[in-house]
Amino acid sequence: MEDQLKQLRQSALEELSQVSDIGRLAELKVKYLGKKGSLTAALRGMGTLSPEERPRIGQIVNDIRNELEQLLLRKNDQMKQEEMEKRLSSEQIDITLPGRKIYRGRKHPLTLTLERVKETFMRMGFMVADGPEVETDYYNFEALNLPKDHPARDMQDSFYITEDLLLRTHTSPVQVRTMQAAGSNKPVRVIAPGKVYRRDYDATHSPMFHQVEGLVIDKGISLADLKGTLELFIHEIFGNRVRVRFRPSFFPFTEPSAEVDISCVMCAGKGCRVCSGTGWLEILGSGMVHPRVLEMSHYDPSIVSGFAFGMGIERIAMLVYGIDDLRLFYDSDLRFLRQF
Ligand code: DAH
Repeated sequence: MEDQLKQLRQSALEELSQVSDIGRLAELKVKYLGKKGSLTAALRGMGTLSPEERPRIGQIVNDIRNELEQLLLRKNDQMKQEEMEKRLSSEQIDITLPGRKIYRGRKHPLTLTLERVKETFMRMGFMVADGPEVETDYYNFEALNLPKDHPARDMQDSFYITEDLLLRTHTSPVQVRTMQAAGSNKPVRVIAPGKVYRRDYDATHSPMFHQVEGLVIDKGISLADLKGTLELFIHEIFGNRVRVRFRPSFFPFTEPSAEVDISCVMCAGKGCRVCSGTGWLEILGSGMVHPRVLEMSHYDPSIVSGFAFGMGIERIAMLVYGIDDLRLFYDSDLRFLRQF
């Protein structure tokens, strides 16, 4: 029995000295010290010994167990230490890798366009006004000489909140609010940029879009002022080479009314897909403020006159930058937005 134990110890020590990975170490622990391990088996065999021999052999088994436990523990620590050192030397930070680029934010193309439009008019002495996006029927339609049965008031086109409240369909109500705030016959020279809402959605329309309204009122304002102002504006935005055309039109709040076209910026007026072969692009609506509109806001059309205009910022931005789908402005696709 004693010889057997000596041999067991010898082979355990030998195997332990050759171990080189932590998994194998755990296996050896089971093999010698586990419930079904060799040492435990030896312990069980003690029943066959004489009572005098038992304590002595028991002592030897315990000594071997303690020795092996100590050894396993030390081996385990040592291997962990080695593994850590190996990782520390292999997992070095490669400082030659180029850094990750941090992208700085930039202005949205609609913001850039709006800023240019505003700057151009401000240099001409215009002030900037604004009004609410939730408007009453009175400001959005009635005070602009849009009678109750006018097709522009159709439920199809407008987002109504109640019968009397709606999301404004254009920035023109700011004309009325500005006149009323100024007081009767006081001169006005404002632009009013902002969001407007209509039930529309395709490549050239979105349910929310931006307009800039303009209103000039004073003694002796004529169609010549309207023409001169808008021509100057257009040449500032689109360059001096574009031609400008005033085309008779109709709006309930202006008389006479004109739509303003520019020679096509894509084909220089030759005719292409963008201008539907006409060579011209419509960019805004305008006219002399209707006497009824002046009267309703307590201005006297026999003393003062004025002109007004309204344009869509999305449309201007599409033409300035050559964009063929308006929905790109709202997709938040950075590949698109980083180009401006
Ligand atoms: N409010 C018009 C629209 O949204 C645009 C417009 C046309 C505004 C003529 C004006 C104007 O001030 O005089 O379609």
